[in-house]
Amino acid sequence: MDIYVDSANLEEIKQAKELGLADGVTTNPTLIAKENKSFTDILHAICKEISGPVHAEPLSLEYDAILKESRELSKIAPNIVIKIPMFKEGLKAVRALKEEGIPTNVTLIFSPSQAILAAKAGADFVCPFLGRLDDYSHDGLALLEAIRTIYNNNPDLETQIIAASIRTPNHVVELSAMGIDILTIPSKVIGMMEKHPLTDAGVQQFLKDAENFK
Ligand code: E4P
Repeated sequence: MDIYVDSANLEEIKQAKELGLADGVTTNPTLIAKENKSFTDILHAICKEISGPVHAEPLSLEYDAILKESRELSKIAPNIVIKIPMFKEGLKAVRALKEEGIPTNVTLIFSPSQAILAAKAGADFVCPFLGRLDDYSHDGLALLEAIRTIYNNNPDLETQIIAASIRTPNHVVELSAMGIDILTIPSKVIGMMEKHPLTDAGVQQFLKDAENFK
C-alpha cells in the first residue's frame, strides 16, 4: 500500500516525507490556489522533493486543449501524472495520452460505473472521492469497496485505486483493510492518526514514575 500526501504545500510534503508517508503527491486546483505561487513553480518544487508520482490537473475541458496542457505539464518532470476529471472529453484524452506514454489519473469518481469507464479508457489511476460522498449522506467506503471488487474480479483492468477526500483516521484504517492500492491523506488527518489520549497519559505517567528512580 502506498501513501501519498494530499497537498500542494511543500512544508507539509517534507514533513510527511520524514515519516515515510510521501510515496507520491496529489494536487488539485484548490490545493494549488492556497499556496499563492505559480502553478508550475509549485509543481517544479514538489517534483524536486518527491521521486514518486506527482499528480497535476490540467484546467482545460476540451479534448485538444487538455492534450496540449497535459503535454506541457508532463515536461515539468518525468514523475508527473496527469489528473483529468471524469467526463467524456477527459476519457478521450486519457486514451490519447496513454498512446503517448503519459500516465493519467481519472479524478472526481463518484460511482463504480465511472471507475469502469476510466479503467477501460486506460487510466493508470482513479481517484474516488470518499469524504465528499459522506458529506451527502452516501457511503464513501462502500464506493471504494465496490471498485476494489470490480478491479479484483477483472484482472485485465490494471488501474490502481487512489482513495481521495479522506477525512478521518478511521477512513485510513478501513481503506487499508480493504486493500486499496494508494491512500492520499491530508496532513491534518496524519496528525489525527498519531494522537491518542492514552499514549499521552502513558508518557506522563512514565515520566512521573521515573522521578522515583534510585
Ligand atoms: C485528491 O486527489 C483530491 O483532489 C482530494 O483528496 C479532494 O479532497 P477534498 O474532498 O477534501 O477536497
